[in-house]
Amino acid sequence: MSTDAATSAARIELRDVTRRYRVDETQAITALDGVSLSVASGSAVAILGPSGSGKSTLLHVIGGLERPDAGSVNVGDRELSSLSGRELAAHRRRVGFVFQQFNLLPALTAADNVLAPVLPFRVDFDAGARARRLLDAVGLAGRENSLPSRLSGGQQQRVAIARALVWEPAVILADEPTGNLDSRTGGEIIELILSLRDRRGTTVLIATHDPEVAGRCDRLVQLADGRVVGDVVTSASHGVASEIATPGGS
Ligand SMILES: Nc1ncnc2c1ncn2[C@@H]1O[C@H](COP(=O)(O)OP(=O)(O)OP(=O)(O)O)[C@@H](O)[C@H]1O
Ligand SMILES: [Mg+2]
Repeated sequence: MSTDAATSAARIELRDVTRRYRVDETQAITALDGVSLSVASGSAVAILGPSGSGKSTLLHVIGGLERPDAGSVNVGDRELSSLSGRELAAHRRRVGFVFQQFNLLPALTAADNVLAPVLPFRVDFDAGARARRLLDAVGLAGRENSLPSRLSGGQQQRVAIARALVWEPAVILADEPTGNLDSRTGGEIIELILSLRDRRGTTVLIATHDPEVAGRCDRLVQLADGRVVGDVVTSASHGVASEIATPGGS
């Protein structure tokens, strides 16, 4: 396979996206209900809303982990519904996922955790050098050989962020990335994600319940019952990023 990981940032465009989950023969939950959203390349958007409002589902359809039942999802120049399973798998490698549970493999060192996503592939880059460079970029130089159990929660999340960057993704999707961290460490993790955005031009979406995290993003998109019910550009915006997707919005 090609290993020319995409480095260009990606604009994200959802049109009328609906995602339902079947509960039983007669009932379905509508997790996303006609969501339309445009996210400019290189922006940092907080996805807010109560539990069950569809935040994770939104990230999953953008990342190609789930297919919508209706509507279209464009990431960069790709329309996801037109992709084959194989192409969708390639799309998932253009997206870096960061989760609340860091999901590190306990028996692997920090460096090997960073490289875990590329292990199944033959790559044309020096994997060890890339792991060192990424761990350095997240502030963990010298900890390449540490096991997760020897790292603090914040350090484990840094390893997870380095792992999310291993294919040089155009998009970072972070689902409650500070949910398991104290507020100071959580603040540091958000600063790290935003600094990566600043340096790489990566588009960032962060699902969060934390108002402090949201306040550091350029734009706040509020969900309720699977719909977009609010969309504001914040004062944290650098003036590059956001545009409002609601009809008639500026
Ligand atoms: N795999 C699934 N099967 C059935 N229902 C699901 C599934 N995943 C999500 N749902 C339902 O879809 C709705 C949206 O869920 P989602 O996980 O996107 O919410 P959320 O905003 O991320 O919530 P939280 O803040 O608790 O993480 C909820 O009603 C949830 O129960
Ligand atoms: Mg969620």
